[in-house]
Amino acid sequence: MHSFKSLQRRINLAFTDTAFMHEPVQLYEPIAYTLDFGGKRLRPVLVLMACDFFGGDIDKAVFPAMGVEIFHNFTLLHDDIMDHALLRRGRDTVHQKWGTNAAILSGDTMFVLAYEYVAKTDPELLPMVLNLFNDTARKVCEGQQYDMNFETQHDVTIDDYMRMIRLKTAVLIACSLKLGALLANADQVHAEKIYEFGIELGMAFQLQDDFLDAFGDSKKFGKTIGGDIAAYKKTFLFLKALELARGDTLIKLTNYFFNKEINGEQKIAETIDIYKQLKVDEITRIQIEHHHQKALEILQSLPFEAEMTTEIIGLMQEMLGRER
Ligand code: IPE
Ligand code: IPE
Ligand code: MG
Ligand code: MG
Ligand code: MG
Repeated sequence: MHSFKSLQRRINLAFTDTAFMHEPVQLYEPIAYTLDFGGKRLRPVLVLMACDFFGGDIDKAVFPAMGVEIFHNFTLLHDDIMDHALLRRGRDTVHQKWGTNAAILSGDTMFVLAYEYVAKTDPELLPMVLNLFNDTARKVCEGQQYDMNFETQHDVTIDDYMRMIRLKTAVLIACSLKLGALLANADQVHAEKIYEFGIELGMAFQLQDDFLDAFGDSKKFGKTIGGDIAAYKKTFLFLKALELARGDTLIKLTNYFFNKEINGEQKIAETIDIYKQLKVDEITRIQIEHHHQKALEILQSLPFEAEMTTEIIGLMQEMLGRER
């Protein structure tokens, strides 16, 4: 059995060994900038881990795992345009550094690259793998569209939000785990179970991301704190606050959120203040814990040895207790 730390090293090495720089430099420099600098590499680690724990050969899973990570990074390039985000991983976003057109086209190229890497799969398994990957890629786009629709939609419910984050974030985490299972020839029932496990983990992961967006430390998180508030995102935090706010607080909250005239920094500071008053931070932690527990329950039904389960639990703690 491999530890997640060793799998992370393996993935990092695979990325370091790959030259993403080609001609024209204007197209490939943003790609190398994004892929060489890393990030947590969680999704490819999940691919390798599932493959390993279902008895597969991780050497054969490295390229498809890289494909998933490249796909994830492609979504970030376009997401940062859509979210008007200036900072990622503590540095300028690609569109901030090179302009929107560069981020669009380098992102498109990464989407193609992602498929090239995923296609480096055992030919017998490829149709199944591509089915999963296509289904996931399309769902991520659907989720991203809902995310944007919700910016200007005033009647978004927490259920709507949950469906949206399932699509934009959880399915890719679930796909990573299922992909690892498929590459190890795990049986269909187990492949579906680990997918469902990944959905719960992914829901918790996005909730944690929304939490950090308001309550994190920008230096560690690597993104601008309050970015979601500035971009009118209907996060769990905002929807919960809206549900709980009364009187002046409610008027203030809706005004901050819907009045585009208000100064950005003041809006962010005062919205976070309202979140604190209404204990939305604590409620979000409870919601994260709810999905964490659901994931743990599903994990119990998977045929893993005790030390594997312990390793997965460790990785989950890392993902959900993270500050970056
Ligand atoms: C960021 O994902 C996008 C979300 C789905 C929240 P990560 O937090 O995994 O980003 P990196 O790759 O580690 O930077
Ligand atoms: C992430 O949502 C979903 C995708 C990129 C598909 P966010 O917009 O919350 O991600 P960050 O916070 O910018 O990383
Ligand atoms: Mg974003
Ligand atoms: Mg976004
Ligand atoms: Mg976010």
